Parts: sequence; structure tokens; C-alpha cells
Amino acid sequence: MNKSKRFETSVIHAGYDSKQHLGSLSTPIFQTSTFTFDSAEQGERRFAGEEEGYIYSRLGNPTVRALEEKIAELEGGEMGLAFSSGMAAVSAVLVALTKADDHILCSQGLYGCTFGLLSMMKEKYNITSDFSLMETEEELRNRIQPNTACIYIETPINPTMRLLDLEMISRIAKEYNIPVVVDNTFSTPYLQRPLELGCDIVIHSATKYIGGHGDVIAGLVVAKEEFLSEVAMTTQKDIGGVMSPFDAWLLLRGLKTLPVRMDRHSFNAERIFKEMEKHSGIKRVYYPGDTNHPDYSIKEKQMKQGGGLISFEIEGSKENAQELLNLLSFIQIAVSLGDAESLIQHPATMTHAVVPEEERLKMGITDQMIRLSVGLEAWEDIWSDLEQALSKLPAVKEKINN
Ligand SMILES: Cc1ncc(COP(=O)(O)O)c(C=O)c1O
Repeated sequence: MNKSKRFETSVIHAGYDSKQHLGSLSTPIFQTSTFTFDSAEQGERRFAGEEEGYIYSRLGNPTVRALEEKIAELEGGEMGLAFSSGMAAVSAVLVALTKADDHILCSQGLYGCTFGLLSMMKEKYNITSDFSLMETEEELRNRIQPNTACIYIETPINPTMRLLDLEMISRIAKEYNIPVVVDNTFSTPYLQRPLELGCDIVIHSATKYIGGHGDVIAGLVVAKEEFLSEVAMTTQKDIGGVMSPFDAWLLLRGLKTLPVRMDRHSFNAERIFKEMEKHSGIKRVYYPGDTNHPDYSIKEKQMKQGGGLISFEIEGSKENAQELLNLLSFIQIAVSLGDAESLIQHPATMTHAVVPEEERLKMGITDQMIRLSVGLEAWEDIWSDLEQALSKLPAVKEKINN
């Protein structure tokens, strides 16, 4: 990151100079598919890479570029690249890093569609994957194989909220010359900066906290220029999952308030976590800000705050978990996160439904688990909505009465 500026300033100013755009305070939306050349010779020079300049929006666009520069600075990386979705970003990176018969070492738990992509890569190209919490150096060393092409992790893990030690993993991976890819969607660069801890590639589903308003599907990657220019010219250009200029503008707007929103998401989540812990109808709560969390020391090392996501298990069955969702009044049932609205979902039948039951249970995702993305509403209102719904569940009523 630009060392002379603090995060809260960079998030607003990085990557854009209004003087270069007729003084427009807001980044202009270059809603164009292509760019004209002054002459045939200029077109030739642009294609040959001998002259800087735009050619065609799948190869680069000024609004999208402003976002790419901003996210690179915020993550403390050399270059950023924007995609049409988080999954377009994940697949472009994984396809770029692997070849047939390779192996990928993953965190014990991944977003369901990332798991789906890995299953497809196994079926088509025999690219195998292993899942581990990588709790010790020894465990990590034992899991690395001669054909391990990359380590791919989420931390916090979706939805179990376990954490992985990024500094330790990147240190060991360097010994073996294996790149470490981190899906930083849950934390955002405001709470956690994997590149500063030695990791190589950061991915975001920008659909979530980066956008922050539930109105865009988008992905971002930050890494070294050498690697990302290669991705830009191969798996991005030729597969084609690029971001639209308007979506880039929405994200640029969302990013300006990222620190303010993340502070509030974390503040609300901490309070709701404390209430949940005391509630007899809730069996377990998973929140990285919990001082009794098994990975709390990792949280203290690498995360500024606990973030806005809480998973919890209720007393009762899968049907009771679904009933709880149906009983809520304003908390919305939806599978996204990081929006102003509190969103709640049932991972076993929604985000992780594609994961076979056996794998899902190994990941710790039970039928009673529910994931809450704590929104920006008053935390007291969020809690009272949850509490009134909990109080109506038969298994909870029984527990309270005993
Ligand atoms: C952790 C994580 N990574 C990646 C994705 C995929 O992102 P998108 O839906 O933007 O394609 C998601 C989506 O929920 C996610 O939660």
C-alpha cells in the first residue's frame, strides 16, 4: 500500500486523479466495447504492445483499470485484475496455476462452487485436491506432494469460521516454491492483508463486502505483475470473464465506505455473538472474535477485527433450522453476505449443497448449522428478530423449559 496514506484515505483516493478526467469527482464510466485508433499503424503498435493504450474492453477499460489499481494498492500488491464474478476470478487463477495430473492443497472447507470447480478439474484433468486445517508446520509439510501446484485457502473458512495461519503457511510454501492463494472475501483488505504476510495471490468475491450493497456480482485478484499479466492475456482474455465498466463503478463507489462498514459489521457481530453464547437454544457459535475460538491467537495475529459473519448450530433438526429462517421478520433469507441488510442462510441445503454429505460433515457443516451475515441495522433489532424466532422453535422451547 502507498505508505504515505492510511487505508481510510487510500480507499477513497487510490487509483484515480480527477484532474485527468475534466475534474469529475466520480470516476467516469467508460461504457464502450472498443477504442478507436488514429491510424492503422497505431492499431498495429497497440496490438504489438509497443504503445500504451486501450484496444477493446475485454483487454482493458479505464473504469475497470481504476478499480484494479485501487484494489492492488489496498491489498499491498503489484497488480489487480477484475472479473465478472468471484468464481470467474477463482477459475482463472486455478486454471492458470495448474496442468493435468497436478495436486492442489486446500483449506478444510471452501465455498461450495470452488469445491464444485475442483471436482470438475479432478474429473476432466485428474487434478486432485486435499483438504487440511494446516494447523502445524509438520502437518503442512506432510500434505505437500511433489505435484502440488498451489495451496488454496479461505480464512476465515466459509462457513465454519476456522482460521489458518497465513504467515506460517506462506513461509513453509516458499521452501517448496509453491504459490499460496487466499480467498480474502470474508475479511477484505481492511481486516486482513495476506500479501503482507507472505502469500502470493489474493482473490475476492467482490460481490460481498467490497461492493457492500447487494447490487453487483464481481471478482478481483491481486498478485505480482508477472503472474497477473499472464492471467490477463490467457485465462482472462481467452475465457473472457471480464468485469463491465458499470460494475467497476459500483465497486469503486462501494469501496469508499469499506472501513466504515466493516467497523459497523464487526461491532454488530460481536454484540450478537455475545447474546447467542448466552442463549440456551443455540448449541454452538462460531465467530473469529470469540476469545475462546480455537484459532483466536491466529485472529489476533492477522485480523484487525472479527468481521461480520457468524455461524451457529441450533438445538433440533435440519427442519428446525429451516423453520428458524422462516420465522424471521426482517432478516432476509439469502445466500450472499457483506450487504447492508442482515442475510441468513442454511449452508447444508444452500451454499454447500453441492458438497457430498460425507465431505460436508468432514468440513464441519451440519444440518443444524446456520450462517448469519450481520448487516448494518441496529444490532439490538437484529438480535430481537433472532430471539423471537428462536423462542418459537419446539426444540428450543423444550430446552428453555427444562
Ligand atoms: C468465500 C467465497 N468465495 C467465492 C465466492 C464466489 O463469488 P461469486 O458469487 O461472486 O462468483 C463466494 C460466493 O459466495 C464466496 O462466499
